[in-house]
Amino acid sequence: MSYKAFVHRLLEWYPLNKRDLPWRNTQNPYIIWLSEIILQQTRVAQGLPYFEKFLKNYPNVDDLAFAPTEEVMRHWQGLGYYSRARNLHQCAKDIIEQYQGEFPKTYRDLLKLKGVGSYTAAAIASFAFEEQVAVVDGNVFRVLARYFGIPTDIASGPGKKEFENLANKLIPKDNPGEYNQAIMEFGALQCVPKNPDCENCPVKTGCFARNNQMIEKLPVKINKLKIRERHFRYTYITCGHELIVKKRGGGDIWQGLYDFPLEESDIKFSSDPDNVLLASDLKDFVTGIVYNSEKTYRHILTHQRIFANFVRYYINESFREELKNWADRNDFQLVSIENFENLAKPKLISKFLNDEK
Ligand code: ADE
Repeated sequence: MSYKAFVHRLLEWYPLNKRDLPWRNTQNPYIIWLSEIILQQTRVAQGLPYFEKFLKNYPNVDDLAFAPTEEVMRHWQGLGYYSRARNLHQCAKDIIEQYQGEFPKTYRDLLKLKGVGSYTAAAIASFAFEEQVAVVDGNVFRVLARYFGIPTDIASGPGKKEFENLANKLIPKDNPGEYNQAIMEFGALQCVPKNPDCENCPVKTGCFARNNQMIEKLPVKINKLKIRERHFRYTYITCGHELIVKKRGGGDIWQGLYDFPLEESDIKFSSDPDNVLLASDLKDFVTGIVYNSEKTYRHILTHQRIFANFVRYYINESFREELKNWADRNDFQLVSIENFENLAKPKLISKFLNDEK
């Protein structure tokens, strides 16, 4: 099958099979940008409610740019990859300050925006401005690798280039945006990673992988990631209706979110609460300690596995002043439980607090 026929079949398949997703009925670059940033590394079902929440609260780029950062982070809470939320907010501010409130209209200029890489720039340029530039996401890699029988590692730099070159040869002059959506959707619904329904595929006759029993083998992804294990032991310190929190700094996961005083280790912590060094100078004020070292919360990130335990300290309210001084000395904050509800926190912390209720 020629390139042209392949493209034609996908364009026929798309309107009959596509999902009705809200960011597809617009050419507004703000809405398209917002959806693509939210959907990076997020499944549609998970991203959709966030997209709706953001669009409702920030119907246009001004609303987002002028919103307080803490509020934006709170709306993002639960999606993970918090640097994306910070970049999203910074990008909105840049659009106002450097681009007079208008998104750039070309792939090249879009690439200069904070948090916008080649995938997102191609999506905005083609969906909003009909520029003939291919989007290459995980779905597109898979469709091309299988159909054309490309054995190159999609995780490598040269691999990415090879796929991009091919994708840019395929993209038609007419309706490039529709074609990009079509091939992505085809990967998401038809040419799925596991057990694709090849018998009912509109391009099965020309598909290299199907004709050579290579469906399971393509695309090739050589995973070089080393996964780091981290053990966290949090001290959850409460005093009446207040608790001790810590705003996380830069250079690590969850920057700018709030959690609790933390000890960290490469190996599992001892189950003995006497080994909790962090709050040893609070011992005189403690009325109770609860430490169930068997109750471990896990959080899986791309490069890291976090295992977290919590030690709970109850501080007698008569020692509030001492606790406040201790917090100030250690760069922690003493906040009310209601105020903490309104701060952005890692999912793992929300889960723990929910269990404590
Ligand atoms: N995933 C990322 N971008 C998407 C889009 N525009 N439509 C559907 N799924 C997506």
